[in-house]
Amino acid sequence: MKQTLLRRGFDLGVIDDADVVCEDPMSNWQLGKPTMLAGICRSVISQHQGHIARSDSLYQAILDGQSIDTLLAENSYQDHLQGRFEMLSSLIHEGEEQEIETVFFDALEEGRVAAEDLWMKVSWLAFYEQDASLRFRFSFGADHVEDVAADPLRQRYAAKLCDVIFPESRIITNNPALENKLLECLNGKSYALVERIIYFNAPQGGAYLHHDRERGHAGVVYAQLSGTTFWLALTKRQLQHEINSFLQESTAASDWPRSIGPEMQLELLELSKDDQRLAEELESFSNDALIHLINETAGFVQQLIRNGHGRLLRSGDVLLLPQQSTEDCCWHSVFCVGDDCGEALSFAIRTD
Ligand SMILES: [Fe+2]
Repeated sequence: MKQTLLRRGFDLGVIDDADVVCEDPMSNWQLGKPTMLAGICRSVISQHQGHIARSDSLYQAILDGQSIDTLLAENSYQDHLQGRFEMLSSLIHEGEEQEIETVFFDALEEGRVAAEDLWMKVSWLAFYEQDASLRFRFSFGADHVEDVAADPLRQRYAAKLCDVIFPESRIITNNPALENKLLECLNGKSYALVERIIYFNAPQGGAYLHHDRERGHAGVVYAQLSGTTFWLALTKRQLQHEINSFLQESTAASDWPRSIGPEMQLELLELSKDDQRLAEELESFSNDALIHLINETAGFVQQLIRNGHGRLLRSGDVLLLPQQSTEDCCWHSVFCVGDDCGEALSFAIRTD
């Protein structure tokens, strides 16, 4: 089946089921490459249809402009929060334009506060009007400042808070088949799924190529619960190789995408002469020419698909994204496919 890749106004061509990778060897993890585990959650999802439907209603109510702390005050949430988490306040941080609302909680154990300043932050993924994608992120303390890896206790309580509000988290946290695969990747080391994000990817939505490397995290488990997403995922080394070959071929054939004018061509060719600089510019996420080439150029996206970097995730599929070092770290880009918004889980893997 052919489907169009559209993201925030950019048409990136067509994907065909036949062009995408359906299964990966587990050895990919050690190489920093993506590992697709097709259907590993399919049988468990059916037990959580009620939770998935409730979360969809929560998402729709937020789109309708309802306040999140009011929505969480409803019995279906309070019955499970009471005695375990106390909802304290909610606010919208000044200067964080993508933020919709952050709700704060304390964790309780036998009536006493066990962990303070936990939060669920709800944010838009972009400023594009036709993209209704948003995410619920669970963490604690000062966002982007706190060294979350240094506080495993609060990290664990923030994860439990996610379990209570989104019980469908258990589709990956209580899944023996997935657990065995993760233990295989981690050479038997025990792990916890932390810094949790619940995504609602809507048509025109998704994410530009990036990595999720963070101290103390070995990688990310992404599970598609409903809807469909398309992914480009590859190591940074592979990405640099793809950039260089695209630029060489465009030069040799004197055939450049219309959106890449002579000035941008020169800038990109100059970058491609120096591997170290190209790597640094990628990590900076601020080089406009590079951002345009790798995220908004149909020819480049289609080259990545032809070279085996595409994965199509439907309900029940999981993608593992190793994030171990700057070099052996899986970069990834996401597109919503089809007309429906879908729910997904994206949890970081912490090994101790
Ligand atoms: Fe990511």
